[in-house]
Amino acid sequence: CMVRHYKFNVVLKNSTKLCSSKQIVTVNGKYPGPTIYAREDDTLLIKVVNHVQYNLSIHWHGIRQLRTGWADGPAYITQCPIQPGQQFLYNYTITGQRGTLWWHAHILWLRATVHGAIVILPKRGVPYPFPKPHTEKVLVLGEWWKSDVEAVINEALKSGLAPNVSDAHTINGLPGPVSNCPSQGHSLPVEAGKTYLLRIVNAALNEELFFKIAGHQLTIVEVDAVYTKPFKTDTIVIAPGQTTNVLVTADRNAGEYSVIASPFMDAPIAVDNKTATATLHYSGTLSSSRTILTAPPPKNATSIASKFTNSLRSLNSEKYPARVPLKIDHSLLFTVGLGINPCKTCVNGSRVVADINNVSFVMPKTALLQAHFFNISGVFTDDFPGKPPVPFNYTGTQATNFAATTGTRLYRLAYNSTVQLVLQDTGLITPENHPIHLHGFNFFVVGTGLGNFNPNKDQNKFNLVDPVERNTVGVPSGGWTAIRFRADNPGVWFMHCHLEVHTTWGLKMAFVVDNGKGPNQSLLPPPTDLPKC
Ligand code: C2O
Repeated sequence: CMVRHYKFNVVLKNSTKLCSSKQIVTVNGKYPGPTIYAREDDTLLIKVVNHVQYNLSIHWHGIRQLRTGWADGPAYITQCPIQPGQQFLYNYTITGQRGTLWWHAHILWLRATVHGAIVILPKRGVPYPFPKPHTEKVLVLGEWWKSDVEAVINEALKSGLAPNVSDAHTINGLPGPVSNCPSQGHSLPVEAGKTYLLRIVNAALNEELFFKIAGHQLTIVEVDAVYTKPFKTDTIVIAPGQTTNVLVTADRNAGEYSVIASPFMDAPIAVDNKTATATLHYSGTLSSSRTILTAPPPKNATSIASKFTNSLRSLNSEKYPARVPLKIDHSLLFTVGLGINPCKTCVNGSRVVADINNVSFVMPKTALLQAHFFNISGVFTDDFPGKPPVPFNYTGTQATNFAATTGTRLYRLAYNSTVQLVLQDTGLITPENHPIHLHGFNFFVVGTGLGNFNPNKDQNKFNLVDPVERNTVGVPSGGWTAIRFRADNPGVWFMHCHLEVHTTWGLKMAFVVDNGKGPNQSLLPPPTDLPKC
């Protein structure tokens, strides 16, 4: 293994899209930002220099950060932000992971433009467990506002109303043609007969997306940097935070085929139909030939989405076994959803909040990991409720249990203890899909269903053999998802909805995992250049 050095200069850059220009925050002037390439077990040294007027931090989404939580990146969780003019060296080793992950700013809404892919190749000489592709391509899906993104959220926080939806989706930074602006789309050149590995990242702020290529089948081989049993589909669904690797063979007549990313809107109140378009371009295509189009799935195409997610299985081979925890130490039930709280300054006298078990998380003023490591009291409590305060009909429509409490409450886990966590969506305002992301771990998705989770009936149907393993999972609208993981990574680990609007409203919490007693079971000491609050 080797040490790889990267330098991230965070700078403003002028950008023109949808026939209008604005300044955006970027890494090295790029949107999406640079792709990081590494191999399994390499060490990364990434120097982030803040040249803009915002506080910032960068998160390496999906990297386990075994014992190096200091480099995880969420602001006020594992580190204080890097202030304007300051820098921080993120130093970590990629342990036992290979596949596609990504990095993004983890403060305010800066990740709208501050993000990029991480490609981790297998160790030298170790093949993929699928046929070797001719070439690999990274496709980063994004979301674009014509106005300033920080202004969008600040306005929403002040008014207590939902923020404006974006103006476009993008594929590798380009929206493709949109009404009244002839924007260019990303072009993906292919040669007839060859097979390609597409590494797809959903970096959108607030939108789950469908992705498809006209006339071509996609073979899923990996999600969230874990190999899956291969299966074929014409449409994938990908939530913000998730990554999906697919094989696609250029097995059609030479031509141009449209590649689309369109929103999967499963909430009844959702309003968004902006499709990003790229083109799969066969070499030798006549310039006169017309692009072969594909239609986006219908608006509430829940059956397409659930068919896709229910098909995902761990590869679970001898070489890549699924180590699902069978004996459970902590059995938790967390409701995830929206509520309404009073607000004096807000337009309607109230605002939408989001919470877990009725706790709307309050960001601390100093980083939780420091408070934990240095035993600083008064920053957090470790009394996060393991179940809802009052059981109710979670997916029914009843106007009770709106009110959320607030607090910086964590849930404490002993080193190496095992957790089963059932995430239950609530329909208090509206049922909605929540892509929940856990830092520091992969987890197994052992079950999912609609309605209220019923332990007596649902638990014995769990898949404990080859459940998909990932770091971000959608809790279905009006339903539940059960995950299992082993707390083998000491530190403080954020868990939140990866729809940025819900995170902002408080749909987040953190686990604190104590050190173990054995060698190599403790959090390492903090780096000397760790930013101060
Ligand atoms: Cu990709 Cu805490 O986020």
